[in-house]
Amino acid sequence: MIAIDGPAASGKSTTARRVAQELGFLHLDTGAMYRAFTLKVLRAGKDPGDSESVGALVGVTQIELHRANDALLVLLDGEDVTLAVRGEDVTRAVSTVSSLRCVREAMVREQRRAAGQSDVVAEGRDIGTVVFPDADLKFFMIAGIDARARRRQAELMNRGIRTDLDALAGKIRERDWLDSTRAESPLRKAADAIEIDTSSMTVDEQVALVTGIVRERLGRKGKP
Ligand code: CDP
Repeated sequence: MIAIDGPAASGKSTTARRVAQELGFLHLDTGAMYRAFTLKVLRAGKDPGDSESVGALVGVTQIELHRANDALLVLLDGEDVTLAVRGEDVTRAVSTVSSLRCVREAMVREQRRAAGQSDVVAEGRDIGTVVFPDADLKFFMIAGIDARARRRQAELMNRGIRTDLDALAGKIRERDWLDSTRAESPLRKAADAIEIDTSSMTVDEQVALVTGIVRERLGRKGKP
């Protein structure tokens, strides 16, 4: 079990996906789960911050992550929502929905169930602190706001969406603030996590660094 936490666009997802591939582990993208549930809340026309009406949806929602070749498919009640969960509306509401205790309890239960069935590289905000405090190895990835905004801009550009860099930086900062100041499982570095600043690293460099540390600490199979 490898845990990777960190703020938005710090390089977690790409690193987690590639490290999981190399080790043959499942990539547990917990952010994608919160995003999928947020999509359901928005589609149902619920107020993202209303714990009562959002809570009523939790029990009637099924979220699954499936590996398809190199990609990760996100299924919401059986529907492929992989692209939809990256949408602007979901990104805007996800931190509010994720701050609700009833949502976190359900997601964490599902995350622990998935990890009980397979070796995982889990990534998110509270993986090393709350979800899997006994992870074999924990990483905390950070990067400067400029690097993160540029990465997110390139990612959106790939999907044909043009965005203003300053506006993007503002939104990332706001989400970081919401994620790290909430009462329930805030974004925090676990005391035993290895911090990696990816500001001036390429994707290949950060993947090589993390994979190297995993192999050094846990052996070739990534297990203790
Ligand atoms: O990919 P990006 O960095 O934009 O974010 P993400 O990993 O997809 O996570 C989206 C949002 O879900 C975060 O901003 C958090 O509000 C929430 N989240 C969370 O609360 N706990 C997690 N373990 C993972 C994500």
